[in-house]
Amino acid sequence: MDGNEYVDYTGGHGALLLGHAHPNLVEAVQKQISKGSHYGASHELEVKWGTLIKEMVPCAERVRLTNSGTEATLLGLRLARAFTGRNKILRFTGHFHGWQDHLSFGFVSHFDGTPTTGVLPEIADNVIIAPPWDIEETRRIIESHDDIAAVILEPTGSSWGQVPVNKVFLQSLREITTQRDIVLIFDEVICGFRCSPGGLQGVLGITPDLTTLGKIVAGGMHGAAIVGRKEILDLLDFSYAKSSDIEKIGHQGTYNAMPTSCVAGIAAMEIVKSTDVCERAINYGNQLQKELNQVFEEESLSWISYGTYGGFHIFLNPNNINTSREEIESGKYDYFTLRASVKPTLLKKLRVGLLLHGVEIQSWPGAPVSAVHTDEDRKTTVNAFCQTIRMLKDENEIER
Ligand SMILES: Cc1ncc(COP(=O)(O)O)c(C=O)c1O
Repeated sequence: MDGNEYVDYTGGHGALLLGHAHPNLVEAVQKQISKGSHYGASHELEVKWGTLIKEMVPCAERVRLTNSGTEATLLGLRLARAFTGRNKILRFTGHFHGWQDHLSFGFVSHFDGTPTTGVLPEIADNVIIAPPWDIEETRRIIESHDDIAAVILEPTGSSWGQVPVNKVFLQSLREITTQRDIVLIFDEVICGFRCSPGGLQGVLGITPDLTTLGKIVAGGMHGAAIVGRKEILDLLDFSYAKSSDIEKIGHQGTYNAMPTSCVAGIAAMEIVKSTDVCERAINYGNQLQKELNQVFEEESLSWISYGTYGGFHIFLNPNNINTSREEIESGKYDYFTLRASVKPTLLKKLRVGLLLHGVEIQSWPGAPVSAVHTDEDRKTTVNAFCQTIRMLKDENEIER
């Protein structure tokens, strides 16, 4: 793809939806850089970018632009606390929301809620971790606290659907949080503008109170956003704070809404809005998974390729569970089953074998696919898996 000699699945997760260096984005940034990359005041590009986001994302009554997904989730939690007057945050095992202090534990480690190195215990004391594969336990946890400000999750499941959650779970979460006036935050940093132009909420018709957006939103440049209900985002507004006699929430930032990021974001939003890029990437992912699962079956492996909305993940199934793509995607399995440890040499050799055959995926193993991957890329990928599996068998990494 993109004139490269190999099939590349590594392009910054969601940003790769449009491939590396999409000509519209390159042109927009090149033109803008000669006019200035940083202004000291607000400018009309940020209004244009924000308006496009508003038109596409269902919950976006208001938009606030940040530099990164991490900043967006951080601001989301602060807004939720200020809005509800409560302290606690509920997050889910394995879900990723950036490196900020409140959400750095419970992702790949510290599942007991203890803080990761450098994080204050007082912060960890205000974060509750729930199991996203168990709605009844999640309900019990929420109902046993009356001081929860926000529930935050990746709505396609942890680390972009590696451990999928299902629609019923999301619907129940929406109901419980509404009943208890808790701010529900969908972290769509990775799935926004990928599941559909309106993100996952646009597909499922479940509207959170706040949504964080990143990656595609800024067309691969540094930029992100927090969007959502007017009455919550109003807490950032000068005139609202003045007329309501409240202290405005500060959100200063030298690089907020950089013009170069705005133009890339505008170009990306226009493509997502007016073309079938989401659909193309999703179809590519589905077909790739289908073909990979055929290969795994032919090779008598218990591996399963799964993943929704243009992602593909490979479950290397170290304990040979008898299951299927559909069962995994239904949200049946917990984090610890799907992330069960695999021999490190197998993981390494799988990646190296694929590289030798011209395909680069990411380490989990899996990858996001893009709208510019072609049928030829898919064939190369499937062939690379076939050849690599044979090499792994020859080296006794997997059974013949
Ligand atoms: C779901 C999710 N939230 C938050 C983040 C953090 O975003 P950033 O890397 O822009 O800080 C990421 C990044 O991968 C993400 O996937």
